Amino acid sequence: MIKFLPASGIEAEKWIRWMDGEVFPNDKPVTFIGSYWFIGWEGKQPACYAAWRPHYPTNTLSPLHITSAQGFQYRAGVLPAYRSRGYQKKLLAIRERAMLAVGIKEAVTYTDPQSAASMRSLIACGYMPFVPTKETNLSGEGRAGLFVHWRKAL
Ligand SMILES: CC(C)(COP(=O)(O)OP(=O)(O)OC[C@H]1O[C@@H](n2cnc3c(N)ncnc32)[C@H](O)[C@@H]1OP(=O)(O)O)[C@@H](O)C(=O)NCCC(=O)NCCS
Repeated sequence: MIKFLPASGIEAEKWIRWMDGEVFPNDKPVTFIGSYWFIGWEGKQPACYAAWRPHYPTNTLSPLHITSAQGFQYRAGVLPAYRSRGYQKKLLAIRERAMLAVGIKEAVTYTDPQSAASMRSLIACGYMPFVPTKETNLSGEGRAGLFVHWRKAL
């Protein structure tokens, strides 16, 4: 039976780095600072992981005005042996609960355009696509348009 636990500390970071290398072999390593992590454990074996972090859309009209934080579903991966069990959907729900617990009212994320499994999980969990502006783009400078953006009111 899978058990999802908050993950922090050196040992948890080691497991996450290892899983992330397996799941995203071509991506830059994850950053831990400012993100909240979870690991899904099948007994003593880590099966999946995910993180969220607060995201503040830029407010170009009034840079001094602090906009409401969104909860950015930052990273998620399920090791190949544990796929097809709906774990990504569970990881989305767990992070939404954590966002709600600190008063965040909107979750956002992005996917590669070809990531059908992720898109299906997001749609099943109530996310809808949106076209990002320069202010709401989540995927890094100059890369707007390369990714599909998703959001959900919590
Ligand atoms: C994306 C990922 C987390 C999904 O893992 P998972 O939770 O086990 O997902 P599932 O296998 O249950 O698939 C989710 C849904 O997509 C469907 N699906 C899976 N592969 C698919 C494909 N190639 N094409 C279309 N649909 C697909 C499944 O049938 C399932 O549909 P359902 O919800 O109607 O049952 C996992 O594949 C992974 O770690 N991939 C690499 C990293 C990654 O892309 N992370 C997400 C970044 S946004």
